[in-house]
Amino acid sequence: MFTKEVYVARRAALLAKMRAAGEKGIILLIGNAEAPAQYKDNCYKWRQDSTWLYYIGLDEPLMAAVLDIESGAETLYANDVDIDDIIWMGPQPSVRSKAESVGIGLTQPYSMLDTDVHAAQNIGRPIHYINPSRYFNTLRLMQLTGKENVADGASAPLTEAIISMRLVKQPEEIAAIDFACDLGYEMHSAARDAIKLGIVEQDIVGKMEAVALAKGWGVSFPTILTQHGETLHNHGHAAVIEPGKLMVIDAGVESNEHYASDFTRTYPTSGKYTTKQREIYQIVYDCNELAFSLAKPGITYRDVHLATARKMLEGLSALDLVHGDLDEMVAKGIAGLFQPHGLGHNMGLDVHDMEDLGENKVGYDPDQTRAKQLGLGSLRMARRLVPGHVITDEPGIYFIPALIEKFKKEGLGYDFVNYAKLESYYDFGGIRIEDDVLITADGARRLGSRRLPASPDDVEASMQK
Ligand code: GLY
Ligand code: MN
Repeated sequence: MFTKEVYVARRAALLAKMRAAGEKGIILLIGNAEAPAQYKDNCYKWRQDSTWLYYIGLDEPLMAAVLDIESGAETLYANDVDIDDIIWMGPQPSVRSKAESVGIGLTQPYSMLDTDVHAAQNIGRPIHYINPSRYFNTLRLMQLTGKENVADGASAPLTEAIISMRLVKQPEEIAAIDFACDLGYEMHSAARDAIKLGIVEQDIVGKMEAVALAKGWGVSFPTILTQHGETLHNHGHAAVIEPGKLMVIDAGVESNEHYASDFTRTYPTSGKYTTKQREIYQIVYDCNELAFSLAKPGITYRDVHLATARKMLEGLSALDLVHGDLDEMVAKGIAGLFQPHGLGHNMGLDVHDMEDLGENKVGYDPDQTRAKQLGLGSLRMARRLVPGHVITDEPGIYFIPALIEKFKKEGLGYDFVNYAKLESYYDFGGIRIEDDVLITADGARRLGSRRLPASPDDVEASMQK
């Protein structure tokens, strides 16, 4: 947790934004509850709601808060423990002391939340809430507001105010993300050092996730570790490591403070890239470097995505896998055949920060619309960059036989794509290189104190050690 003053200032800023927008009524924030995995007392690993963590900081289940836009009163709703709780969980601090630890003046039992929200509703006060990230909170909001469709009733001004604050990371958050990235570095190094022919992928996953659990909260999303990188989110780890393959490792640590890291590296399982692998790797590496060099305040990440798409097509042209005018190919979305995802996303308390509030609301400026094209259409962060944005830089090239065949069958890209040569890449797999990047006052810097080896030479050298 940060200091009390951080949470007090964040809530004050949120209330001020709502007042400045002419809003009245109350802001209702709901923390997560325990979620049973098999039965009531055997739950999924506890994880607090990220917006709750941002404004309230208390990392415990079954809490809610009401912030009164007009009076500024702040109330924490939570239950003090009784003797049964003490038997199972030990003594706990009082709700009042928890509230005080984050600068909240008033407390009420959790059951009073319904009474107070209904009372506000009955006198016509607007109830501002955000789209809930969990089903339990959807049900709670249905009970509290009487709305059938909770998502449609989410407050646009509140959502906008929260996004505007969480998108621009504060210095203490940047330090927390740097730390999560240092843990990510350590986890990825353990993974790289564990790559060995003949072992099962799961062996490596166990070794790397041990770092995440020993030094942080755990992984920030289910680890992707696969010799089939062309399957973008492959969560199976049963395969034996074979010679001559490419292994994509896309994984992050969530720190104890709940800030994420998210890195991807692609290793040659035999320790050296083949010529064919190196040629493609170099293109992806060049795209990653180009994106980093372009990322600075004022440019949109959409334009950075498009610049890397052009660079990718230039590299693929040199290998005679595509041919034609680069700008025309970019406009026609030919890069999407090779990289059917976006260049990156926002990152913070969530690895894809705030996507529960709406991908487009988080990743797109009001004057931007999301493209439909394959690749560009999956871009989750398109905004004009400002200092404090934390984004990922993760270009990739994948040879997905089913997708290439579909393009071919539908006659797509016939003027540009060398389908005959592409067939020799059907067993290639995929390559992705991902770093986490902070936009600074005049440019950008990669997060974490050290960068994982990324150039083909550096990756090979790191595998020799
Ligand atoms: N690194 C996983 C993702 O960005 O989806
Ligand atoms: Mn990512």
